[in-house]
Amino acid sequence: MTTTLQDSAFVRAARGLPVPHTPVWFMRQAGRSLPEYRKIRAGVGMLESCRRPDLVTEITLQPVRRHGVDAAILFSDIVVPLAAAGVDLDIVAGTGPVVAEPIRTAADVARLGPLEPSDVGYVDEAVRLLVPELGATPLIGFAGAPFTLASYLIEGGPSRTYLKTKAMMYGEPDLWHALCTRLAEITLTFLRVQIGAGVSAVQLFDSWAGALSEADYRRYVLPHSARVLGGLADAGVPRIHFGVGTAVLLKAMGEAGADVVGVDWRTPLAEATTLIGPDKAVQGNLDPAILFAPWEVVAREAKRVLAEGKATPGHVFNLGHGVMPETDPDVLTRLVDLVHTA
Ligand code: CP3
Repeated sequence: MTTTLQDSAFVRAARGLPVPHTPVWFMRQAGRSLPEYRKIRAGVGMLESCRRPDLVTEITLQPVRRHGVDAAILFSDIVVPLAAAGVDLDIVAGTGPVVAEPIRTAADVARLGPLEPSDVGYVDEAVRLLVPELGATPLIGFAGAPFTLASYLIEGGPSRTYLKTKAMMYGEPDLWHALCTRLAEITLTFLRVQIGAGVSAVQLFDSWAGALSEADYRRYVLPHSARVLGGLADAGVPRIHFGVGTAVLLKAMGEAGADVVGVDWRTPLAEATTLIGPDKAVQGNLDPAILFAPWEVVAREAKRVLAEGKATPGHVFNLGHGVMPETDPDVLTRLVDLVHTA
């Protein structure tokens, strides 16, 4: 990473260093809220667009140009490395990832992976195109954490209850751990490719870990996420770890090896920091639904989040989860300006 990127407000805040202004980016900032995104994606499937470095580059740059955010996030998806490792899946618009043959047995697990770096050569290429285009704006790489990836593979698609996932976790713990061990290796390879190509930080999304108690998270999930985050300890880039509904898991998620813990909108940042401890920065946590309220409310709530962020060792402003597709993009631009000038 160049000196400029190390000195960026985003990387400094992630490391808990003083910053000239609070850095801000948005989960799902590249996506359906932007008309230019909808235009370029017309007629191109989601997975196909993730495999085309020209499209990945353009889509990743769109929110940086429009909003002036402090970081870009690579346009991809958490299931891209699974598809690259041979899993038959698709990303269905309005639904999410759908797996043709869900993983349920030891034979299914034995067929999964490994991922070779050359399987995701298009990701390496896209990052190498993006880094010079972005200049002083850092690029965030990302991957899905073993639990969240396992939930899609076992359920066969999105789930509200994670019944089949939990049935394997509790009923066949050896099989569960074998699956997550393979997923951790796939994820580690995917993140190492992105770091090798030049990303300035990585985010490990365990979006659905909030379905678990702390005890079960520690027993069934933490060791596998720790394998991923620990495997990147010497990579020299900040590691962000995020999930939704994780109020009781924040401490454990930090212990998994994160430098920055992502917090959803349910937990005030100052309270999150008392749970996570004084040696980690936090990221978040404006409720994405607040962006549909009048601007006065958005501004008031954003200032509250900023004030709470002052009581943490480092604050990267973000939403508490991804941008909703129906969000007015002008509100996002205005929010970036507010965070920069508040
Ligand atoms: O801007 C960014 O944040 C980068 C792009 C990004 C996408 N997916 C693009 C995408 C990122 C970081 C992800 C991660 C991802 N994918 C997560 C973790 C983040 C989170 O939201 O908790 C998860 C759980 C997935 C799985 C997934 N993929 C879902 C639930 C969906 C939404 C389904 C839908 O259509 O509403 C997808 C598809 C997807 N991934 C879209 C985008 C822009 C929408 C598809 C489209 O635009 O056609």
